[in-house]
Amino acid sequence: MNHRSSFHPASPILDFCPPSLPARWYTDPLHHARELAAIQAQSWIYVGRVNDLPPLTLRKLEIAGQQLFLVKDDTGSIRCFHNSCRHRGSELCQQHEQRLKAKLITCPYHEWSYDLSGRLVRVPHVPETPGFDRQANGLFSAHVTLWNGFIFVCLAADPPDFATAPDLGVNALDNWPMADLVTGHRMTSLLQCNWKVFWENYNECLHCPGIHPGLCEMVPVYGKGVMSSAEMPGWSPEDAVASPLRDGARTWTVNGKACGAEFPNLTEAQRTAAYTFVTLMPTMYIVAHVDYVRAVTIRPVSPGETELTAEWLFAPETLAQPDFDLANVVDFAATVIREDGAASEMNQRGLRNARFEHGTLMPQEFDVFNFQQWVRRKLGEPLVTKGVKP
Ligand code: FES
Ligand SMILES: [Fe+2]
Repeated sequence: MNHRSSFHPASPILDFCPPSLPARWYTDPLHHARELAAIQAQSWIYVGRVNDLPPLTLRKLEIAGQQLFLVKDDTGSIRCFHNSCRHRGSELCQQHEQRLKAKLITCPYHEWSYDLSGRLVRVPHVPETPGFDRQANGLFSAHVTLWNGFIFVCLAADPPDFATAPDLGVNALDNWPMADLVTGHRMTSLLQCNWKVFWENYNECLHCPGIHPGLCEMVPVYGKGVMSSAEMPGWSPEDAVASPLRDGARTWTVNGKACGAEFPNLTEAQRTAAYTFVTLMPTMYIVAHVDYVRAVTIRPVSPGETELTAEWLFAPETLAQPDFDLANVVDFAATVIREDGAASEMNQRGLRNARFEHGTLMPQEFDVFNFQQWVRRKLGEPLVTKGVKP
């Protein structure tokens, strides 16, 4: 192992080995409910692309165990409501996606109708009755915000400022034509692991040499078990920045070639970097390449189950090319995602053993440490300070 003194002071690697989270936090249903309430219910959660949501259609969602639906009106305005009628609580949207017959949301039970802003506008078969206030019986709404063509919902009464979300880099994708990109492919799987296991795996590359042979060939520095050269001994911030990809490759496709025209407004540095990661904990990460963008969503389903969705986003002209080779784009990252999913499931199986109370993070796992500290902070648990056991 290299001695810490061979690393530049600006290197992100840790100079101690912190304990990882308690193993119980990955399996215990009561702890899981606590996380949903303290983390997922308090954060902005990604729920779909603006241009994948048809107007005048309800789409069901679940966030932190709450049933909701989205609706886009005919002016393009998007709202989110709890999926409960104010009369006696019936579900309003019954299918995954439900086209509206009129500009009204009508309860299937006793046919109360709400307009698309959630106001109660119709109570059929019932005489006007003193004391009943229609205005006080609108749908319960959740906050919605749009960013780069992505829709986010927050259940909190007082949502956090989206632009200051940790690690976000709210302007990081400004040079990509994000709002115009269309979904060319979607892949969903139900992983048998806790949601934090997948995020921890995302936050380190110590597993890359053993788990991702193809990715390490494409990005040689990953084959050294680090995410970037800044984690290598002898690195200095003054070093010239070179492409991290193997010779001749421009992007993450099977043949390394761009799948269409490169986005025109990227800086030279963004082209050289070959991939720009944007992380929106706890809901998604985005990887922007010179020719396409990938978005991966992480949704907890139960303590030991996580729904993973990957979306490949393209300029419409790229998808319209007569010789467009979707498999050349999708297969590269789909393989990496499947490898990460299998590694996360393997991790989860081992976490169940009673003798394993918690693990120990290595210096290159600084971003796993940052993630775990963020989880501790959200839960109001003591943070790990250097050399002190939690
Ligand atoms: S529960 Fe919706 S109208 Fe009665
Ligand atoms: Fe990985």
